[in-house]
Amino acid sequence: MNTRILKLDQENIDSDLLAEAGAVLRAGGLVAFPTETVYGLGGDGLQEEVSRKIYAAKGRPSDNPLIMHIGSMKAVDQIARNISRQARIAMRTFWPGPLTVILEKKEIVPDSTTGGLDTVAVRMPDNPITLALLRQTGIFMAGPSANSSGKPSPTTARHVLDDLDGKIDMILDGGAAALGIESTIVDFTMPVPTILRPGFITPAQLSRALAQPVELDPSVTEAGMLQQVRPRAPGMKYKHYAPRAELILVEGREPAAVTGKLQQLIAEARQQGHKVGVMTTVENRQQYPMADVVKCVGSRGKEATVAAGLYRILREFDETEVDIIYSEAFQQGELSQAIMNRLLKAAGHQMIDADRQ
Ligand code: TXA
Ligand code: MG
Repeated sequence: MNTRILKLDQENIDSDLLAEAGAVLRAGGLVAFPTETVYGLGGDGLQEEVSRKIYAAKGRPSDNPLIMHIGSMKAVDQIARNISRQARIAMRTFWPGPLTVILEKKEIVPDSTTGGLDTVAVRMPDNPITLALLRQTGIFMAGPSANSSGKPSPTTARHVLDDLDGKIDMILDGGAAALGIESTIVDFTMPVPTILRPGFITPAQLSRALAQPVELDPSVTEAGMLQQVRPRAPGMKYKHYAPRAELILVEGREPAAVTGKLQQLIAEARQQGHKVGVMTTVENRQQYPMADVVKCVGSRGKEATVAAGLYRILREFDETEVDIIYSEAFQQGELSQAIMNRLLKAAGHQMIDADRQ
């Protein structure tokens, strides 16, 4: 299959190109689409066989349910039932935006899309191109992240092409994704709304909007991740986001302890003949002259830049010769939970405590 790339301008969306994408989707084809979080791999989520094609293109296990992307508030009632008042408040507050809600599903949603669950994940993405596509076609677009299973999620059309060239019909190129990590997933079918995947929308923002506390699924806390608690979002159990080289995180209370430990680890690994990469931050980039490759993911002072750069940097390491990567951990800011959730998975949960050794 020849994968077509259509370049679109967010400020001036070409409606003929959107109509072409819509026609491909209606015919059961696959179209990668830009969102504010990461690129998605879209298909008509109400066509039973389309989800199978999505799983096949990604090389993804089919027990892993897909998120349904919608363009209007009305659309949610067509695919979900018994929507709680809390869920409605969350949708009104954060949509369009990086929030996915888990709701009871209606019959119309095929089991192949939800991996056999009786719930469905729904999100209204905040990207003018994709919103226009959803509104113009009225399609319920099933869309996992548009990476090959196990690889870092794509934040540019180029990343999608690297993974899925020849396997999907079309890529809508709307430029780099602004946020860079996937949406916060909240389960509203639980007695207390529960975060199944941390993201840009933080627990504090959610509980403020809902005027009640929210819970965190034990699997997504750092302690739970290190103990590898079984997650309730089926897809969260897989190894994810991993670069080719071995990735090891280094945490510690004092920045100087972390950089010192990293310097020691780099020296040791090089002595053993490894080619060593370091993922660091603007603040510490000068600290590792002994490493073979140093990549700066963003600024500690502005954690959003770290989130935005994370997957791109992990992919860039695959283009280098390094066979081991050490990365500083992120444990301070509002987004650290979301960032560490991805980093710990990419590292296969390997983390060294600089304060202990
Ligand atoms: O930001 C995002 O959410 C991106 C963009 C493309 O919208 N999408 C995304 O999709 O990250 P994906 O498929 O890579 O991750 C969806 C996660 C998986 O971990 C899956 O198991 C979980 O959502 N999920 C989907 N439906 C669910 C359900 N009914 N109950 C619990 N977890 C669910
Ligand atoms: Mg994904």
